[in-house]
Amino acid sequence: MKSEWWKNAVIYQVYPKSFYDTNNDGIGDLSGIDKKLNYLKSLGIDALWISPCYLSPQIDNGYDIADYRKIDPMFGNNDDMKQLIVDAHQKNIKIIMDMVANHTSDESIWFKESRKSRNNYFSDFYIWRDPKNDGSEPNNWGSNFGGSAWTYDETRQQYYLHYYGKKQPDLNWENPLVREAIYDVMRYWKAQGVDGWRMDVITSISKNQDFPDNPNPHQLRYVVGNQDNGPRMHEFIHEMNQQVLAPFSMMSVGEAPSSKSKDARMLVDPKREELDMVFTFEHMHVDRKPGDVNGRWAIQPIDIVQLKKTLANWQDNLNGHGWNALYFENHDRARTPSRWGDDKNYRYESATAFATVLHGLKGTPFVYQGEEIGMTNPKFELADYEDIELKTNYQKLVEQEKTISKADFLKAAQKISRDNARTPMQWNSSKNAGFSESDPWFKLNPNYQTVNVERDMNSPRSIFKYYQKLIELRHNEDIFRDGDFKLILPNDRNIFAYTRTLKDQMWLVIANLSSWEQQASCLNDYDKTNLVLGNYDFEEKGTLRPYEAMILRK
Ligand code: GLC
Ligand code: CA
Repeated sequence: MKSEWWKNAVIYQVYPKSFYDTNNDGIGDLSGIDKKLNYLKSLGIDALWISPCYLSPQIDNGYDIADYRKIDPMFGNNDDMKQLIVDAHQKNIKIIMDMVANHTSDESIWFKESRKSRNNYFSDFYIWRDPKNDGSEPNNWGSNFGGSAWTYDETRQQYYLHYYGKKQPDLNWENPLVREAIYDVMRYWKAQGVDGWRMDVITSISKNQDFPDNPNPHQLRYVVGNQDNGPRMHEFIHEMNQQVLAPFSMMSVGEAPSSKSKDARMLVDPKREELDMVFTFEHMHVDRKPGDVNGRWAIQPIDIVQLKKTLANWQDNLNGHGWNALYFENHDRARTPSRWGDDKNYRYESATAFATVLHGLKGTPFVYQGEEIGMTNPKFELADYEDIELKTNYQKLVEQEKTISKADFLKAAQKISRDNARTPMQWNSSKNAGFSESDPWFKLNPNYQTVNVERDMNSPRSIFKYYQKLIELRHNEDIFRDGDFKLILPNDRNIFAYTRTLKDQMWLVIANLSSWEQQASCLNDYDKTNLVLGNYDFEEKGTLRPYEAMILRK
């Protein structure tokens, strides 16, 4: 049987551009990751997921790949990658690369050839369609980054499809040559020692070949909302599994933006031989006004009941059928203490409380760089943001359609924009937070003198040390891997609590996710001797202080 090492593991995500710069060009690099392996090892993590570091024009920070087999010179070269893999393996850390298989950059040789003519080897590598009789686009699909999902190409006199930016043309997975080309890339990196894959928007690869108009063309993100999980998706993913994942025992975690737990169950049921885990988006929508034309920019305060229901639903629906991937932060999400917690008054408490409820669940927890020291959103002005998604949505919603005011858009950006997580990692309080000697490619969060690794590790209230303990528990206590999950107090609007049960053991994971003290009568059954981990000194009061979190053993 294939080893399921990830079931006991905690995986750390590195966004290489913003992690650590060793040649002082202001951009993080692969040797920067290598130099920080001891730091990562001391945190206790088992594997690194490295966001794309392949050759790329970087219009979407590397999620626009021009050459899958080449490391972008800004990050180093292929030998640096090999070295990183060797050094990581020596420390027993596995390496997961990021496979962007839905689209490439328009600067990929595949696309350059494809756009040249309708009858060369690469012609059908992408999705080309003739204009309608009046010259307009083949259908009304819109890009996830705003605007149309179709761009006209003068040479081919056809439109090509792109679910994301117009410099990110979608690959045509109907073409077996495309599929084989992708599998081949995966084999190439396997030969370099890579242990697994995070798969970018993998649920988008199969397109409905009728290309039907979307019934609700005004809905933002309507491609992903309606055209995901296409007719041949499971077939393609199963084929990839059989071609590369299974024979080479590679771990896989797919990004599944619009999958419900029922869809996910099919993707991750080991019997179906598709993926090991998927990232759901559902629990990240709990601070969004449902059905609003402004999509994710229509924010509202977090609904804790909804958060619990969603996560519990995934726990229950996958139980016995597949494995969960657990996360609150990544390179597309804001910082939790700023987004859902209280980064002003309770940064330590809210960072550790959210961590506790996440890491106690059944599944594999993912930690995003900086999350382990409670990094926060930088609260930039509009001009400081770099992200293509933010910029194109600003144009669409604020400037063209005027469905949201500039002030409200900025407010939303400061809460939820992807750039919140992309500021350089804060290592210490020296110049540029110890990230680089030169000006970083992207503005630092101005709070780096108070929030940084060095300071946190020396603090009596160290978030890093709290994460160390959470990770240690994962490694040492089978109950976190195997124990049954049961949500308690489902309707409590502030407390997130559940039990994990294994044989005669029962553990309680409980957190107050508010800035106010809360009654918790279920705590009356426990005393200090039951405490496994907590972010306050234990008090026998049957109440929870602001963002107080505990793991208790019966
Ligand atoms: C995924 C990535 C995101 C990227 C998009 C297009 O959602 O996580 O960063 O912009 O796919 O590749
Ligand atoms: Ca560099």
